[in-house]
Amino acid sequence: MATVIKTDLPNPVYSGKVRDTYSFGDDHFLMIATDRISAFDVVLPNGVPDKGAVLAQMSLFWFDLTKNLIPNHLEQFAMDRTDLDLDKEIARRAMVVRKADRIDVECVVRGYITGSAWKEYLSEGTVGGLDMPSNLKEGDRFPEPLFTPTTKAEEGHDEPITIKQMEDMVGVDVTRELRDYTLLLYEFGRKYAEDKGIIIADTKMEFGYIDNNIALIDEFLTPDSSRFWDAEFYEPGKSLPNFDKQFVRDWLNGQGWNHEPPAPSLPSDIVEKTRERFLLAFQRLTGLKIR
Ligand SMILES: Nc1ncnc2c1ncn2[C@@H]1O[C@H](COP(=O)(O)OP(=O)(O)O)[C@@H](O)[C@H]1O
Ligand SMILES: [Mg+2]
Repeated sequence: MATVIKTDLPNPVYSGKVRDTYSFGDDHFLMIATDRISAFDVVLPNGVPDKGAVLAQMSLFWFDLTKNLIPNHLEQFAMDRTDLDLDKEIARRAMVVRKADRIDVECVVRGYITGSAWKEYLSEGTVGGLDMPSNLKEGDRFPEPLFTPTTKAEEGHDEPITIKQMEDMVGVDVTRELRDYTLLLYEFGRKYAEDKGIIIADTKMEFGYIDNNIALIDEFLTPDSSRFWDAEFYEPGKSLPNFDKQFVRDWLNGQGWNHEPPAPSLPSDIVEKTRERFLLAFQRLTGLKIR
C-alpha cells in the first residue's frame, strides 16, 4: 500500500501541513493532498495511506455537487488527464485548479458548539462575540449556523475577526457575499451529510477571484477543513471525537505527549484503523469507490 508523505515535482510554490502545491502553466496549480496527518496542529512522522486520495476526491465530489451554487477553482481531477504523466499514486491525490486572486479571510461557519467556540462560550458566554443563550451544552446545535471569520495568518494561528473588521478588510459588499455563500454552502453540505449519517459540526472555506468572479477555492468540506462527527454517537453534553482522527487522538493522549513537535510515531494498527475511518467517511458520504 502506497503512502505519499512527500512529493517532488517541478515548480513547487507551497507546501502546507498536508498539501503540496505546484505551479502548472501560467494560470493553474497542481494541488496534491499527501497522506500527511496532523494532530494538535503538529504533523505526525508517519502518514495514513489513502488519506490524500480521500481528501482530494471528497473535495472533487463537493465541487461537482455545488457547481451550480458557486463557481469553483477545479479544472480537472488529475486521474482524468492524459497529458500530465503523473505517477498514479500522485494523480489519485491531485487536482488541477485555476489560480485565483485569494481573498485573505478564512470563512468559518459553525452549526454546532464545539472547539474554540465552546471555549469562548465557557469563559465569555459568547461565540464570535455574539451573546448566546445561557444553557448551551457542548455539542449543541445552534438555532442558526454562525459565520465566524478569521484572518489567514502567514505564521502561527488564525485570529478571529468581527464582521466589522472583515468589512474593513475586504469591504461591506464582499463581506456580505462571502457570508451568504458560506452559510448557503454549509447548509447544503450539512443537510447532505446528515442524510448519510455524518454531522458536519463546522467547516472553513476560502474564496478568491477567478475572471473577476468570486469562486470557491482551496479544499472544500473535507475532514481536514471541517469537523465530521458520527451521527450515530451524537450526544450533546459530551465532547465528540472527529470521525477520522479519533484513534489518533486517543492514542496520542495515552502517550502523555505534550503536543510540542516532534510527535511520536503512530503504531501500524492505529494507522490502519485511521485509514479505514477516512475510507468509511468517503464511502458513506459520496457512495463512491475511491479511485
Ligand atoms: N485556486 C487557488 N488560488 C490561489 N490560492 C489558493 C487556491 N486554492 C488554495 N489556495 C491557497 O493555497 C494554500 C494551500 O495551503 P494548504 O496546503 O492548505 O496549507 P496550510 O493551510 O497548511 O498552510 C492556502 O493558502 C490557500 O489559501
Ligand atoms: Mg489549508
